[in-house]
Amino acid sequence: MEVVKWTEGKIRILDQTRLPADEVYLDLSTYQEVGAAIKEMKVRGAPIIGIVAAYGLALGAFGLSTNRQQEFVDGVIDIARSLLATRPTAVNLFQAIERMTAVLHNGPDPELVRQALLEEARQIHKDEEDNTVIISNLGAELIEDGYTILTHCNAGALATSGDHGTALGAIKAAHLKGKQIKVFANETRPLLQGSRLTAWELLRAGIDTTLITDSMAGHFMSQSAIDCVVVGADRIAANGDVANKIGTYSLAVLARANRVPFYVAAPTTTIDMSTRSGKLIPIEYRSPDEVTLFHGVQTAPEDIKAANPAFDVTPNRYVTAIITEKGIARRPYRQSLSQLRPARPLSVEAQIEGGPRG
Ligand code: MRU
Repeated sequence: MEVVKWTEGKIRILDQTRLPADEVYLDLSTYQEVGAAIKEMKVRGAPIIGIVAAYGLALGAFGLSTNRQQEFVDGVIDIARSLLATRPTAVNLFQAIERMTAVLHNGPDPELVRQALLEEARQIHKDEEDNTVIISNLGAELIEDGYTILTHCNAGALATSGDHGTALGAIKAAHLKGKQIKVFANETRPLLQGSRLTAWELLRAGIDTTLITDSMAGHFMSQSAIDCVVVGADRIAANGDVANKIGTYSLAVLARANRVPFYVAAPTTTIDMSTRSGKLIPIEYRSPDEVTLFHGVQTAPEDIKAANPAFDVTPNRYVTAIITEKGIARRPYRQSLSQLRPARPLSVEAQIEGGPRG
């Protein structure tokens, strides 16, 4: 599945807001269009947000007409800032832009730097796709023959590029290894990533999938119908607290109450060692309209107040293991995660202002 592709100076993306009804590809030809596509969730999911933003920065650099070094650098930094302002929670966006802005210090010739930025974006894309292959195979080991797995939101190929995904990658790999598995997919209110995207991906993979609404998960766990939960992540703090799609925390608590293992599958680019605990993770709040309207139809009284946090934080004590491309981390997470991703304070602002750190 080609969810994102750079061709002839344009970024082609599969418009995820149109799935599953229509498979429509969009050509983005300016960095502003890229920023809007991320904000409007035409492309969504932590790793792919980073990949698309990286290409967006390269696109913006090619669009800058100046060949004066300082003007060029200032222009690229403005583009970086505008892309960073799209979605605050998924740290992959910040990691990717940090890698990209480091390239600015490669040399004085803007023409060479433009090429180097495109190469770096391609490398970020390749790295994230490679990560999913390893995560899928490692994760599949935790899924036993005969398991029924519950997942939430979409952590599949749509969210990562490539053929796998993270949480869905582990599920797909277990299926490909011949394990007889079933999946329960949470619908994922309010934007229905579970019913629109995960159900679509799992059916294409030929996996026995049952769609449930989010509030049904506890019922099925209490009936011993779920053997494990596997989800993705948008940002993992240094202590192992996990920010993921709203509703993940409730699932983790239910999983603990019902003695069901709760696994998180994510690349190490989702681990943010500079954020000490989940309490410090910025949570994106989206328009209340996403709650009061359902597919454009008003389903609540016009005057009702509605809240719409897009993510929540699951405390590390509920997380059985974190599956990354560098290995599987278990408690105590502060120790196990720092072995997978050595501490290097993340600060894109510092990067932008002061150049690359060693
Ligand atoms: O708001 P979204 O759809 O971008 O949220 C996506 C998620 O929460 C995913 O679970 C997460 O990004 C992991 S994707 C591999």
